[in-house]
Amino acid sequence: MSLVVVSNRITRGHANEPITGGLAAALLPIVEKSGAIWVGSSGRVRDGVQKEPFAEIEALGTGALAMLDLPAAHYEGYYEGFANSALWPALHSRADLIRVSQGDYLSYREVNAFMARALLRFRKPETAFWIQDYHFLALGAELRELGVDQPVGFFLHTPWAPRDVMEGVPHHRELVEAMLAYDLIGFQTEGDCENFTNYLSSTLDLVIEDGTVATPHGTTRLAVFPIGIDVEKFARQATKAISHPDVSRLRRSLNGEKLAIGVDRLDYSKGLINRVKAFDKMWTLHPSLARTASLLQVATPSRGAIEAYGQLQSELAKLVSDVNGLHGEVDWTPIRYLNKGFSQTVLAGLYRTAQVGVVTPLHDGMNLVAKEYVAAQNPADPGVLVLSKFAGAANELDTALLVNPHDIDGMARAIATALSMPLLERRMRWEAMMAKLRRGSIQQWFEAFVEALQKARAEREAAALRPVLRPPNLWPLRSVNA
Ligand code: F6P
Repeated sequence: MSLVVVSNRITRGHANEPITGGLAAALLPIVEKSGAIWVGSSGRVRDGVQKEPFAEIEALGTGALAMLDLPAAHYEGYYEGFANSALWPALHSRADLIRVSQGDYLSYREVNAFMARALLRFRKPETAFWIQDYHFLALGAELRELGVDQPVGFFLHTPWAPRDVMEGVPHHRELVEAMLAYDLIGFQTEGDCENFTNYLSSTLDLVIEDGTVATPHGTTRLAVFPIGIDVEKFARQATKAISHPDVSRLRRSLNGEKLAIGVDRLDYSKGLINRVKAFDKMWTLHPSLARTASLLQVATPSRGAIEAYGQLQSELAKLVSDVNGLHGEVDWTPIRYLNKGFSQTVLAGLYRTAQVGVVTPLHDGMNLVAKEYVAAQNPADPGVLVLSKFAGAANELDTALLVNPHDIDGMARAIATALSMPLLERRMRWEAMMAKLRRGSIQQWFEAFVEALQKARAEREAAALRPVLRPPNLWPLRSVNA
């Protein structure tokens, strides 16, 4: 079998380059090792009608990276529009932030269709396609329209929100129907899978039996595959990175002070405002922690052209400045706030330096920063993870200090507890988390999905030979241009 992996954002894997988002960081090692072709956006656009989509191809480990220029006329409507101003807010239960036009939806479908055409050149008889994330919900249906009959699977890196929220997405029904062209749909958590199943049964009136849904187009298997990290590699990176100049400078600047660290994309789903308010509260309630514990918050900008992101950036910058103004001293800054990205190597060293990792999203598919923070710790003197119970990672990392990110006082107490936790308790919690991380590594995630995809394809083929018992409700796989 040869594998083609598709995602909007990709990374070239240069050791010192920052990687934005957990998806690219997670896929990089498996593409490198598995020999897969990884296809995604080059970040550039191209004018005019492209007969043959333009792709720059380069080697990546034993695999290859194909970077596509997306169509200029549709990029904004696709990326800033439908993907990130309709789907993203809805998937993160913020239907109030949906702002899209019909044109955005058409552009989203056009880019999905464009990507399907581009993938044909990588198709061999034994190829399987693995599509990643909400940017490409309809890509499987577009591939089927082009006659692709190989296994096509999909994995959602974000949450899938409850049915009433997803119904706030324009064209939700058509999109979910298109998703059923996939042989296998994977989710991060049982809760996401249940929400999706509930949508299928309540909104589309479909019957799901033993994790499989039957439609006029065949069967689709629904399953849960919590994404992991390469634990040992990250731990090794963290040990080495301690002598990296950025990390050494950070350590020297601390003067024995304790450090909490947060590393996020600047996104409203990450709960950054509440997090800063929680630190404010903590320094107010425990003045003794002023000067003795500070926060390093890395907030990497992305999607800056979208209004909600611009507003968040201004609001957060003002709040950080107010908190620093209130609690700071001539020789002490409570919050070091950075709007830039760091390489995985430097991040590993920063995590190891910090006594507390704060990962407090309001909603998150998994959150690999939580896993990376744990993997980066010194086994003899590990730090404490303060983790939102609404991050997918909380299902596995249940010996972290779990917090409700809407409860500012509760978070303030948890961070203070983390800062003073005795070594024995820190070690017990950390060892339990490491055991879970080792059981659910990125390699296991990859293998489990690919194996399940082959099985799901075989099930679909077998089902196609059986007579259809229910009257078919014949959906068009692609009706936007009809
Ligand atoms: O699943 C989250 C996600 O959309 C991923 O596709 C990506 O890792 C990350 O967010 C980065 O987002 P963007 O590419 O829009 O900056």
